[in-house]
Amino acid sequence: MCGIFGIITSKDHPLGPTLLESGKRLAYRGYDSVGCATVSAEGTIDLRKGVGRIDDVSADLDFPAMRGVRGITQLRWATFGSPSYVNAQPHLDSDGDMVGAHNGNVVNNVQMRELFIREGMTVRGTNDGETCVHAVERHLDGDGTPTQEDMLAAIRAAYDDLEGDYAFVITHRDDHRLYAIKKGSGLVVGLGEGLSCVSSDLPSILPITRRILRVLDGEIVVLSPETVELYSVGDGANIERDEEFYDGPIEVAEKGGYPHFMLKEIHEQPAVAGELLHLLNSSPHVDRFLDAMRATGNRPGNRGSLYLVGCGTSYHACLLGAYYFNQLAGVAAVPVLGPQFIEQYGKSIGPSDTAIFVSQSGETKDVLNSVKVMRERGGRVLGVMNVLGSTLMNASDVYLPLACGYEISVPATKTFVNQAVLFLHLAYRLAGRDTAALDALHDLLDLVTKDTEEPARSVSAYLHSWDDLYYLGYGLTHPIALEGALKLKEITYAHCEGIFSSEFKHGPLSAVHDGYPVVFFAAPGDEMMMINHVNEVTVRGGRAIAVAAPHSALQSNVHDYLVVPNVDRYLWPILATVPAQLVAYYMSVARGIDPDFPRNLSKTLTVD
Ligand code: AGP
Repeated sequence: MCGIFGIITSKDHPLGPTLLESGKRLAYRGYDSVGCATVSAEGTIDLRKGVGRIDDVSADLDFPAMRGVRGITQLRWATFGSPSYVNAQPHLDSDGDMVGAHNGNVVNNVQMRELFIREGMTVRGTNDGETCVHAVERHLDGDGTPTQEDMLAAIRAAYDDLEGDYAFVITHRDDHRLYAIKKGSGLVVGLGEGLSCVSSDLPSILPITRRILRVLDGEIVVLSPETVELYSVGDGANIERDEEFYDGPIEVAEKGGYPHFMLKEIHEQPAVAGELLHLLNSSPHVDRFLDAMRATGNRPGNRGSLYLVGCGTSYHACLLGAYYFNQLAGVAAVPVLGPQFIEQYGKSIGPSDTAIFVSQSGETKDVLNSVKVMRERGGRVLGVMNVLGSTLMNASDVYLPLACGYEISVPATKTFVNQAVLFLHLAYRLAGRDTAALDALHDLLDLVTKDTEEPARSVSAYLHSWDDLYYLGYGLTHPIALEGALKLKEITYAHCEGIFSSEFKHGPLSAVHDGYPVVFFAAPGDEMMMINHVNEVTVRGGRAIAVAAPHSALQSNVHDYLVVPNVDRYLWPILATVPAQLVAYYMSVARGIDPDFPRNLSKTLTVD
């Protein structure tokens, strides 16, 4: 995700404390590495950066002592390109005349870096933020101080070269302005007395000024201490926009205007899914990951098995991954709970086996214990995690990031969606399918979030009085039923069990009585079969709530219907996750519980 902040002031003064404070307010966006750059009135650049969290790096490098009239801070959430000094931002251009930093993903980063090297530029790291700086550099002629027109022309040309979604801020030592551009990532401007600033997000601006200007995609901002100008990247035309006054509390801004981080993170799902797909489509890491999966069993004396290992929500993603690999690619994968892996398979693991360990935090002890056994027995360790630099990342032969940014709320939401998206992408690749079909997920997730929020709230009003209920899914929707039930348990304190729907009649059906709620998840194509399972419940007085695509026969058999668009049956479970999350969220709020920090739970479980 990453966060950027830039400021320009009329007087040379200690900018360091402002850069540090603004950086801390963006720390939720990334904490693998951090850096600050200041430029003095005479054009001297002071660049300090390092690996780690902002407080630790600042204590080492003394950010508060930095002075200047322009400053940039960046907090990095590593995706590809390990957290390291050279990859930490901001970055210099070849000669050290410009400094800049970005947020987002440049998906043709590798090709651009090769181009810069061929053209004789000095490329120091592998980070795509450095690519943004060089992309501007290559369109400046290098002689003398660039004018505003030169900088604007170079940034517009860089925009044409850089593929992906990003925002960046850049300044030239001899040009007394700060420039920023937005393409897909957040960017907002602050206008103060004798200063202007720009940031990925409002919380870093509000302590400085409440006068703000929203930047839209395809716009370049030119900041001086007294003025802020907007230009269209398309035709270079000047854009007029009125400033706004933000009078809300900073805490609300931190949550993006949502009452809880959980709701904010649910609403971030379309964007993070889109960003992950961009990354997966362009990264050589995916080929290495797939090669390792395909190599499973390729050693003599052992047929080799593929395991998918995780806990809680991450385990549910593993279960969905197993359905995807089987149904799309004919590849058998065994989903296993982290702590169960050693007990059930530990002694039979060998060098022909591969396990994909899945963890948001990358620190879950139950998962890491299994990684250790896998290593000891010579199997391949593949990792999928959200937090780069985590123990799981370092223990993996090959890893793939979830690229969700910081997930603050204890209930995992956006990381589950991206785990599912990642497995679907891998299954498509194993099956030789065109992954372009997955690009629709961004818009579909957006649509389903908007369309199901109110219906989910109204279903939660019925469920609110029940302390015991069931969520049923069949095949591809079984993991969604488990995940929906886990969300409900976590943040409402009700008991909710997720079950494979055909299994319900083998025992749990006896719990059903008048009004007893059972929620059914039916993927497109499974509706007629699900009607049987629904009727087993309704004839006994139960209340059936369906989450399904439009289907008149199913709808006429249930009491409540949460409509999810009728799309490809493999994409559908990912969409159906959203109303499941929203039902749990609204029921939690209705019960007066803080869904972000439910009792007894912790975001990262580093104990046995
Ligand atoms: C999810 O909402 C829970 N907070 C929990 O089940 C979580 O998924 C589990 O503890 C695993 O965490 P991890 O993904 O960081 O390994």
